[in-house]
Amino acid sequence: MIDKKIAQLINVQVNKELYSGYLYLDFANYYADEGLDGFAHWYEIQAQEERDHAMMMRRYLIDNGIRVTFDAIDKPDKKFAKVDDPLKAGYEHEQLVTSLINNIYAEAEKIHDYKTMQFLDWFIKEQGEEEKNAEDMLKKFSLFGHDAKGLYSLNQELAARVYTPSATGPAM
Ligand code: FEO
Repeated sequence: MIDKKIAQLINVQVNKELYSGYLYLDFANYYADEGLDGFAHWYEIQAQEERDHAMMMRRYLIDNGIRVTFDAIDKPDKKFAKVDDPLKAGYEHEQLVTSLINNIYAEAEKIHDYKTMQFLDWFIKEQGEEEKNAEDMLKKFSLFGHDAKGLYSLNQELAARVYTPSATGPAM
């Protein structure tokens, strides 16, 4: 059994991860509408990864005897005027998620919940990668995205992303 407050924080985070998936699918909708199918594909895969994150947290709670509850998922409401707007929003969003995960880790550390700290280690590392990916996309866009040929190549590159399930992440 894990501490009630920690369980509550992780349960809230399940909702946030599902929201992240929703948000990235919304980015994909925007890019599909713009005719940038590679960008859309990249965010569709990102949405799948976010669902994996939610499922891993849900499983951790269940395996520790916690009844998981679901809240409504917020509606993604960002408006995009330029092709790099979702990239910027994605980077900011990942920074926010990192702070949320760090907060749960800090709370677990306070009460010496080493099991949860170990569980969260995978997510801490994952957040490092996700922030880097988001930052790299922004950098590439600022270098190559402002002319048609560069944007075409970038779209092709993003179309090549392959989904790898995260289910082998942390030990439960
Ligand atoms: Fe589940 Fe993008 O963090």
